[in-house]
Amino acid sequence: MDEKKNTRGKECPLIDLREVDKTYFLGGELEVPVLKKITMTVERGEYVALMGASGSGKSTLMNILGCLDRPTSGEYFLDGEEVGSVSGDKRAKIRNKKIGFVFQSFNLLPRTSALENVIMPLYYTAGGLSNAEVVKRGKEMLERMGLADRMDHAPSQLSGGQQQRVAIARALVNHPPVLFADEPTGNLDSRTSVDVMNLFEELNNEGITIILVTHSTEVASCAKRTIRIHDGSIVSGAFTSEGAISGCAGLDRSGAEEKEVRK
Ligand SMILES: Nc1ncnc2c1ncn2[C@@H]1O[C@H](COP(=O)(O)OP(=O)(O)O)[C@@H](O)[C@H]1O
Ligand SMILES: [Mg+2]
Repeated sequence: MDEKKNTRGKECPLIDLREVDKTYFLGGELEVPVLKKITMTVERGEYVALMGASGSGKSTLMNILGCLDRPTSGEYFLDGEEVGSVSGDKRAKIRNKKIGFVFQSFNLLPRTSALENVIMPLYYTAGGLSNAEVVKRGKEMLERMGLADRMDHAPSQLSGGQQQRVAIARALVNHPPVLFADEPTGNLDSRTSVDVMNLFEELNNEGITIILVTHSTEVASCAKRTIRIHDGSIVSGAFTSEGAISGCAGLDRSGAEEKEVRK
């Protein structure tokens, strides 16, 4: 039997973390334990907020979930496949195919147009799309984000909200099943945050699994479950059955269309 396959096969959660530790080693000697025995699952189609004080390990956990970093010990099954112990190129491939990641500071390439930023991940995708198809897909994503008239703008020529929408378009251009967002509204004003949260809700309604870090209870209230982390340990919400479904009650979304509350 292949030990690295999740035994529950197709019924497995999209994300399944088992006793994941992350320890940083400073100067080779000083150990800094940051994540301690993190065990959690996320099912397909969920919308989860991750909350906790500054320094509690949220970004460290998100980087592991997003395959940007590896656990020191423990297992991480993504879509039934153990990804915590795979290295380098293979992890990049998994990221490219299965994961969209959005950062607080957008992380767009400067002096590069919105369109070029969005289509960048497609150049790393096996499957050989033609140049014309790549551009078409990029344009469609930007249109979807309401940026049809901003495709040739460089990041510095865009507002924060527009830059974040370019970053979201880039994260989604490969149609990943899951989107991770580390404080995506942290650098945005409240009106623009509402736009981004409405967009996330729309994406989730279309079936994309979303996990986001936020300090804002209003933003967290848009998610259907909240995981709380304290000092590197999860203190509540690690599993679907524990999560309360809150709806998007906290945000002032006057002007936003009324959305059906699911489940
Ligand atoms: N590369 C690193 N090397 C050493 N310590 C780190 C590193 N990255 C983060 N840390 C430490 O890990 C803890 C958690 O950081 P982080 O995950 O960024 O927290 P949060 O996102 O919740 O604010 C902090 O104490 C931080 O100093
Ligand atoms: Mg952080």
